[in-house]
Amino acid sequence: VRAAVIFGGRSSEHEVSCRSAASVFRFLDRSRYEVVPIRIARDGRWQVGSDTGPETADAIVSGAGLVDEDVSPLVSISAALDVLKSVDVTFPCLHGPYGEDGTIQALLDLAGVPYVGSGVLASAASMDKEFTKKLVAAEGIAVADGVVLRDGESEVSPADRDRLGLPVFVKPVRSGSSVGVSRVDDWDDLPRAVAHAKEHDSKVLVEAAIVGREIDLAVLQRPDGEVEVGPALEINLKGSEGFFDFDAKYTSGLAQFTIPAEIADEHRDQLADAARRIFGILGCAGLLRVDFFLAEVDGTAVPVLNEVNTMPGFTELSQFPQMWRVAGLSYSQLLDRLLETALT
Ligand code: DAL
Ligand code: MG
Repeated sequence: VRAAVIFGGRSSEHEVSCRSAASVFRFLDRSRYEVVPIRIARDGRWQVGSDTGPETADAIVSGAGLVDEDVSPLVSISAALDVLKSVDVTFPCLHGPYGEDGTIQALLDLAGVPYVGSGVLASAASMDKEFTKKLVAAEGIAVADGVVLRDGESEVSPADRDRLGLPVFVKPVRSGSSVGVSRVDDWDDLPRAVAHAKEHDSKVLVEAAIVGREIDLAVLQRPDGEVEVGPALEINLKGSEGFFDFDAKYTSGLAQFTIPAEIADEHRDQLADAARRIFGILGCAGLLRVDFFLAEVDGTAVPVLNEVNTMPGFTELSQFPQMWRVAGLSYSQLLDRLLETALT
């Protein structure tokens, strides 16, 4: 099987994608796959590389050995499409806008190349926290209350402030890895937080804080179309005042994962059921990581959706591969599963 892995990309998660891809290159079984690395530079140019094997995964990702031709994105994309014509399947190992948001999925659909993960609409809806929450809430799943600030808007009305309470989380609507996200404990700090989020997206979400345990679920689709949900993962942060921000996500030791999460069977089933439903509501394919808070509402534990990730972080130490490892699927087997499902 000839498999292209596309990584890097134009989003602020370029570096995270490179780390994810390094693990993919390390664990793709070369006895089954002929691997074609395709790197998207931060400026949008595509570079086709050659696979030098699992031992050199970091070098492949760094772009070593790639010819850095001075061409426009359009010229380099059309050259890469020539290569994509020759592959059986593509793994868009990209996070954030221009990778996880339906844009590359549309290009691959137009080119007729099968790929891992969700299609255009599911990717676009899942990248946009406003639309994700609206679609999911319409089916009766709890989401955090929030206010969306669109182009030119920067104020949260006194009535909305009263309703949301403090702290609030201020987020670019279409971003990932908590880039551009701030926690606001005093309304005087809101303008700075909104300005920071606007550096990453013209649309900003001011969201009520959910008090509860932070629990992620992993959804994986089998080649026969059946959907499986892995063991729940709980995120525990060292130090209680912060949140699971970029540093906590990518600095070893700042966050600890417990898999399976130590929660009652009843809650585990509720979360798994909600994750499976969300995969269906958003029309996802292949894989999805669903991030919840298990919150207390009137003395009952309720899963509240925080966000979804159609291409979750994919380093060996990231949540999604770790959850499946506990379920008995090694990283290489997980890659096999994703590529097999994409090929059917
Ligand atoms: N957006 C990052 C990669 C994640 O959610 O894992
Ligand atoms: Mg995310």
